[in-house]
Amino acid sequence: MEILRGRKQLLFWIPAALAAVALVVAVYVQIRRPPTTRRALYIVGVPERGAELFYGDKQCGICHSVNGSGGRVAPDLSGKHPGTPAMGWIVTVLWNHGPGMWRQIRRKNKPYPQLNAQEMADILAFLYQASNVERDGDPSAGQRVFNDKGCVRCHSVGGAGGKTAPDLSGLAAAGDTTAWTRAMLNHAGSMVAPITSTLGQWPQFSGSEMNDLIAYVSHSAPQSATSTSQIPGNADRGWTVFQGRCMQCHSVRGQGGALGPELGPERDLPLTTAQFASVMWNHAPAMLKQGLESGISAPQLQGNEMADLLTFLASLRYFEPTGSPLVGERVFSERGCAACHGSTAEGTQNGPALKASAEAYTTVSLTADLWRHGPRMIDRAEELGIPWPTLKATDVGDLVSFLNAPARPK
Ligand code: HEC
Ligand code: HEC
Ligand code: HEC
Ligand code: HEC
Repeated sequence: MEILRGRKQLLFWIPAALAAVALVVAVYVQIRRPPTTRRALYIVGVPERGAELFYGDKQCGICHSVNGSGGRVAPDLSGKHPGTPAMGWIVTVLWNHGPGMWRQIRRKNKPYPQLNAQEMADILAFLYQASNVERDGDPSAGQRVFNDKGCVRCHSVGGAGGKTAPDLSGLAAAGDTTAWTRAMLNHAGSMVAPITSTLGQWPQFSGSEMNDLIAYVSHSAPQSATSTSQIPGNADRGWTVFQGRCMQCHSVRGQGGALGPELGPERDLPLTTAQFASVMWNHAPAMLKQGLESGISAPQLQGNEMADLLTFLASLRYFEPTGSPLVGERVFSERGCAACHGSTAEGTQNGPALKASAEAYTTVSLTADLWRHGPRMIDRAEELGIPWPTLKATDVGDLVSFLNAPARPK
């Protein structure tokens, strides 16, 4: 009897254990899904491709300039600094100026440029990058930082300073902020103990200090081939790097490890490379300690990986502002969209239903749709004597959430 019971239990436990293994495997596969299947989550633009479209096929460059190069008919698109959320800002600017631009395009008899979602993402990535230029650092302020933070106790620049650690001049080509950030991060592991024992603390950076320091250490180095304003990163590759080196500890939108803070769009991270370098530097000891405690090795980055990573993190921020469907519903009616599309976007004779689409809206797809349908929307508004709705940057996330929320039962 005892034995039989034991057998029965065994018979029960084997399938249970198999089911559990299958579940673990499923979860594991879920977590280890190759990066490509996640791409839909983040339609990421490639600034270089955006630049090609902007000056080439799509002919934006005939009328617009970016950082001085291009046409003079329309505003220079790098003149202003992005508001927050950055992506919402760009979309809003495009939307609000739509009527003027579309009229101009008609008047000049230019073909109306057609943009699909990926092309729109590329162009927006290009515009975003162009409007997020880091100012040049100040080498003499950087020299003060170098002395005040105590780097000079061990390091030299151009021969002047301590001799127990490598001379830092020429470590990065002038203006190559990502190379500097990468070197600092990779060596943090061997620096934490000597620095904290020599200086009694881990020096913290704020404001423009890191940018100035980089200007100081690299001021006599050869000029970098790429300027600071053009982070030559690739967000797709950066997502791969992130999954391999950072995701054990950090999550993005709840996916990933919990040993470090969530780094998704809601986290207020700096976007210029120098500011990012100071955040990484400030947190390095805590990060390394966590790594030692949990047996996860400190991330080492090679080649272009730092730039790719930064581009990926930036892309999360410029692409998906978050919002609330409830606020979005109000925005939809207050800005005047409801006048044509109906108060729950169910559609009227003046505009189509917007919730019927099988595909979820993202900022990029919304912008691409608006771009495609914009001229006809404007015609309709003029016919009906409805003023063109003006949007604010913060509206975009709310509108996207509202359009994606299931229709509420009446
Ligand atoms: C035929 C000329 C012309 C072409 C081509 C053109 N635009 Fe414009 N664009 C304009 C004009 C004119 C304005 C200003 C409209 C206004 O403020 O009333 C404008 C405004 C804008 C703005 C808002 C600028 C600001 O400072 O607020 C953005 C963004 C923009 N265009 C992006 C683009 C993109 C992207 C393309 C290519 C896909 C493009 N434009 C093609 C003429 C053009
Ligand atoms: C107590 C001595 C000490 C102090 C103070 C110190 N460092 Fe270091 N640093 C080192 C040592 C030792 C290395 C080499 C580590 C290695 O080889 O991994 C290093 C390496 C580096 C590197 C990488 C150099 C390379 O060739 O790749 C950078 C960048 C750096 N330090 C920046 C700084 C900055 C910025 C400060 C001031 C905030 C600073 N260090 C303060 C000892 C120090
Ligand atoms: C071993 C775990 C671990 C790994 C691997 C790791 N981090 Fe961290 N990270 C942490 C911890 C812990 C903190 C919080 C440190 C603190 O509180 O000062 C942190 C903080 C940060 C912060 C500051 C966040 C903020 O908002 O203040 C950034 C940025 C960051 N990590 C980026 C990265 C990137 C990029 C990678 C991959 C190259 C990475 N981390 C890999 C554990 C890790
Ligand atoms: C004057 C009426 C009018 C107003 C106001 C208006 N729209 Fe439209 N909208 C239209 C019409 C008409 C179309 C279809 C255009 C076409 O067929 O190309 C359209 C198309 C769209 C589409 C593309 C739908 C699709 O099937 O791909 C979106 C998205 C959209 N509107 C969003 C908005 C938002 C958001 C607002 C408010 C900020 C707004 N509209 C305000 C009339 C309007």
